[in-house]
Amino acid sequence: MGLLGDKITIHGGQPLIGRIELKGAKNLVTKAMVAALLGESPSILRDVPDISDVRVVSSLLEIHGVKITNGTEEGELVLDPSAVESAHFAEIDAHAGSSRIPILFCGPLLHRLGEAFIPDLGGCRIGDRPIDYHLEVLRNFGAVVEKQPSGIRMSAPNGLKGTKVELPYPSVGATEQVLLTAVRAEGITELKGAAIEPEIMDLINILQKMGAIISVDTDRVIRIEGVERLEGYTHRALFDRNEAASWASAALATNGDVFVGGARQQEMTTFLNVFRKVGGAFDIEDDGIRFYHPGGELKPVVIETDVHPGFMTDWQQPLVVALTRAKGVSIVHETVYEQRFGFVDALVEMGATIQIHKECLGGQPCRFGQRNFNHSAVISGPSKLHGADIVVPDLRGGFSHLIAALSAEGTSTVSNVGIISRGYENFIQKLEQLGADFVLES
Ligand code: EPZ
Repeated sequence: MGLLGDKITIHGGQPLIGRIELKGAKNLVTKAMVAALLGESPSILRDVPDISDVRVVSSLLEIHGVKITNGTEEGELVLDPSAVESAHFAEIDAHAGSSRIPILFCGPLLHRLGEAFIPDLGGCRIGDRPIDYHLEVLRNFGAVVEKQPSGIRMSAPNGLKGTKVELPYPSVGATEQVLLTAVRAEGITELKGAAIEPEIMDLINILQKMGAIISVDTDRVIRIEGVERLEGYTHRALFDRNEAASWASAALATNGDVFVGGARQQEMTTFLNVFRKVGGAFDIEDDGIRFYHPGGELKPVVIETDVHPGFMTDWQQPLVVALTRAKGVSIVHETVYEQRFGFVDALVEMGATIQIHKECLGGQPCRFGQRNFNHSAVISGPSKLHGADIVVPDLRGGFSHLIAALSAEGTSTVSNVGIISRGYENFIQKLEQLGADFVLES
């Protein structure tokens, strides 16, 4: 599994029932792996999922001289950065376009080597996804940034110095950029307008284990006192709350009952509130959360995606499929990415009634309102979805296509499902465990 051309034929209508186990969050694990570059000794990361984004980051780290081996338990990686200084950049272009993580290598590489080269960035096609905040942050620390045809070259002739940064928007990646750079920069860094997602808090836990001094104040302010030396860490990654929300939505849309082992209430409060308002039920246990359709009609909701502690943008696509079954009109106002509704075309082809609007509907005006972006969805239900031949557009949109096919009447062919393995470990095996009726073709 993992080829972009993979295709799956799904016979819909079967409720998903059973238990699955989560590993660590994709959006923490990949950054934690980069943090290992900052240590003078090896790091041990536990609960690393077997997903292609992890494989991409592993090979980028290996190119930079980090030795990566499997630890003693399943999902444990040992990352040894002791040979980084003697590595070379030769093969990095081969990995261009497959991930956005390389931009986070800059701070650690500038500290260790005094220079860094970052290829053109990939990631899901869900909007422009610029890196202007990242480059501005690095310049603030004293990096010299030079754009070249195949990527960006950076150097730090005078080292990196602590600075004051105020982000125009609480970007997850730019906050991580500041953290990974400031921990070894000389002096104090103050970051205003920081993102405070649980994955960022877990990255701060890791950096503190390594020897960093970081305080998270009120009002999105983070202060970092640079230190001269960091050691490796041992850490069990935070669970993947995006994957948990995806399987929860799959349970609801298919009339199913799925126990998601490893899911925790605290990082999912906002999702759980919406899930309950739509008509889903959940039981919170010590070792996970059971999500199920308790019977009866689903209810429409108005959702506005936002930075944490708001409703995460990554949760909306899978939930939209369940909303096609709710009686009445639901609204989803996407305020994080300007183009995250590409996946609904397939749902409409399958019989859903969804209109996309340029206006900010259902909430506060956002950054995209006056700029001609299709960023609000109106979903009218209930609709009965029927099978169709559909093509996965991006990671979360792809998972929503799987849910649509699983909940539809008849047979669907979903192509390009390899993209889903960027962020969902063993999803084919999990579908089997939950009793889905499908055939995988390559
Ligand atoms: C992270 O992306 C996640 N990716 C995304 O996960 C997630 O949707 C997003 O955070 C929001 O939670 C990873 O962690 C690898 P941002 P990131 O910087 O860091 C704009 C998934 O499916 N922006 O918070 O790239 C940007 O265009 C995904 O798992 C700039 O304008 O997100 C967006 O509108 C996809 N300039 C907004 O900020 C910049 O330099 C938020 O992006 C950087 C960002």
